[in-house]
Amino acid sequence: MSASIEIAGVSKVYDGGVRAVDAVAMDIRQGEFFSLLGPSGCGKTTTLRMIAGFEMPSSGAIRVDGADITHVPAHKRDMGMVFQNYALFPHRTVAENVAFGLRMRGLDKATIAAKVKAALAMVELSGLEDRRPAQLSGGQQQRVALARAIVIAPRVLLCDEPLGALDKKLRQQMQFELKQLQKKLGLTLVFVTHDQEEALAMSDRIAVMNGGRVEQVGTPTEIYNQPTTRFVADFIGDTNIFRGERVGPSLDVGKSLILALPPAETEGTGVLSVALRPEKIRLSPRTDATITAGSSTHGIVENTNFLGGAVLYRITLEGGHRVLVQQPNAGTSRLFVPGDGVTLDWTPADLVVLKD
Ligand SMILES: Nc1ncnc2c1ncn2[C@@H]1O[C@H](COP(=O)(O)OP(=O)(O)OP(=O)(O)O)[C@@H](O)[C@H]1O
Ligand SMILES: [Mg+2]
Repeated sequence: MSASIEIAGVSKVYDGGVRAVDAVAMDIRQGEFFSLLGPSGCGKTTTLRMIAGFEMPSSGAIRVDGADITHVPAHKRDMGMVFQNYALFPHRTVAENVAFGLRMRGLDKATIAAKVKAALAMVELSGLEDRRPAQLSGGQQQRVALARAIVIAPRVLLCDEPLGALDKKLRQQMQFELKQLQKKLGLTLVFVTHDQEEALAMSDRIAVMNGGRVEQVGTPTEIYNQPTTRFVADFIGDTNIFRGERVGPSLDVGKSLILALPPAETEGTGVLSVALRPEKIRLSPRTDATITAGSSTHGIVENTNFLGGAVLYRITLEGGHRVLVQQPNAGTSRLFVPGDGVTLDWTPADLVVLKD
């Protein structure tokens, strides 16, 4: 049976005064694939280790299925953990590595053998029982670590950058397999990564962390399409951020660029930041036709970055702003080259207003 986890106002101040985690609050649902995403040092591992019981919060509480476990020791929490570097025992065989948690629990030999066999079958490693970690590929070692964590039938699986050491192809394959396994077992999985694409691809929901705090919790589409803060907009994918002064229904961002605000945002005064994703801007060859102020402008292509399925352009607007524009590499769209004059246009509703 998998469990829900409630992190209630948890902070962690390490000896020496580093506030690694600062008043974090989030609810992780039963059976959910939940990712902690953020840059190096933002407190992801510390948060995960507090859920596991390897670190004690300085304040706040952690509840599992409603029960306060803040002071329950790690080995009594029924949680499996996969560490970034796998942490396999180098001198023990695959089977012995996987059996470790079961031995600790004092199960009999026959039960252990049966559970190890089933766990290895689950991660498709049957037949490699007698090898040692050094005789396995990176991806296979990764699966041993996974089998070792799931063999105890944990209520919660905690994974700290488990795919970090794998090459891209294998990483994508393991992402797919881990997600399938999680769904099949109905596991509550807390997954730490600093890779935004990985978090977007795998998660039911994501908590974006920054400086020990949670900036936003949401589904991948919410995080990508409606980032609420400048940090989230900037950290997830490429984006164009403009800051300016509200003038009626428009935002004056200087250098003679005026942006029409989304219909819901036309009231108010003061300074505002907005984000506009590169793929929300359309490009066409520059013509002398008049343009719609507020939702189009002219520019010059500075450089192009061919991504295969798409092309990323860096464009300097007439007034001097620089923007990123991404266009699909479809048969019908023409490719521009540096020096081309272009017209850019977009839909005001695609602008996302940010909190700073
Ligand atoms: N045992 C410790 N003692 C003191 N400070 C620590 C300790 N462990 C971590 N820190 C500090 O706490 C902050 C958060 O560290 P943490 O390991 O949780 O970050 P992270 O998000 O997992 O980063 P990374 O992506 O690099 O793994 C950092 O500033 C780190 O230097
Ligand atoms: Mg870490």
